[in-house]
Amino acid sequence: MKQQLSPITAGLWRLHQWHLDVSARVRWIEQALDLGITTFDHADIYGDYANEALFGEALAAAPGLRQRLQTVTKCGIKLVSAQRPAHAIKSYDSSRAHVLASVDASLRALRTDHIDLLLMHRPDLLLAPDDLADTFRLLLAAGKVLHFGVSNHSPGQVNLLRKRHPLLAHQIEFSPLQMQALADGTLEQCLDLGLRPMIWSPLAGGRLFSGHDEQAQRVRDVLAELGAARGVSAATMAYAWILRHPSRPIPITGSGRIEALREAVAALSIKLSAEDWYRVWQASMGYEVP
Ligand SMILES: NC(=O)c1ccc[n+]([C@@H]2O[C@H](COP(=O)([O-])OP(=O)(O)OC[C@H]3O[C@@H](n4cnc5c(N)ncnc54)[C@H](OP(=O)(O)O)[C@@H]3O)[C@@H](O)[C@H]2O)c1
Repeated sequence: MKQQLSPITAGLWRLHQWHLDVSARVRWIEQALDLGITTFDHADIYGDYANEALFGEALAAAPGLRQRLQTVTKCGIKLVSAQRPAHAIKSYDSSRAHVLASVDASLRALRTDHIDLLLMHRPDLLLAPDDLADTFRLLLAAGKVLHFGVSNHSPGQVNLLRKRHPLLAHQIEFSPLQMQALADGTLEQCLDLGLRPMIWSPLAGGRLFSGHDEQAQRVRDVLAELGAARGVSAATMAYAWILRHPSRPIPITGSGRIEALREAVAALSIKLSAEDWYRVWQASMGYEVP
């Protein structure tokens, strides 16, 4: 990577829903960069295989943008789609043929000559780790991918691969409403190995604010109270809660609104006390620590 991953990353999963024309997409990327968000998270499959190309179109329209940002993308999931008529069922594929073809398609769509970080999107149950490590080496030698990582893998699956090739990041779900990564060894492993956790759905996909269930309401109330004491929004406090973990998580935003990106960046200057962190944990679990 020519530059580090930015401490907040912008996610493009929902890009096709924002209905931005090319110049608005360029403006959106520029505004994210102005906020210090220089890393952009994609996957081949986002928007039914269309979102990388929407982003690439903006990069082509504004030469100079590419060198100011890092592209993350993922591969390994095969969707049933008119864009991929050869896929008969939804499945995972970490074979050399699939990964190489997928990277080439991502490079074309993103209109770039390299991907800064490539993640295996989901753990392939048929993973042959030596073969995949060889594929990574081929991509590295060709200059097509600079770094590798995984997403949604168990600690054991991470170990299989990282013993054969260095991994930079593990992209996982984590939020005040989804705390499994605290309990299943995922964040401990990140901490132990210095593997950066990149956090997807940091606001639980919006459920933190729209959920009518008791857990969402309890957590929302505590985040709002903590935010009011500091003059920031509940969303900012949710990001601050994630950032408080010592594994140095990198939250990935999901919104198309620049104001929402600004709320995420505001969390970088907040350090929650351990008691406030546990207050949110308690609201989420519905009970105090034993
Ligand atoms: N590796 C994986 O398997 C995986 C899976 C899922 C996602 N991801 C990545 O993670 C990124 C983020 O995931 P996500 O979209 O689920 O993130 P999120 O931040 O948890 O959810 C974003 C959604 O919440 C809504 N929202 C409601 N109130 C909001 C507020 N106050 N501030 C911000 N958003 C609010 C947004 O709507 P508005 O747009 O109206 O603000 C948007 O629809 C994705 O773009 C993708 O890059 C990776």
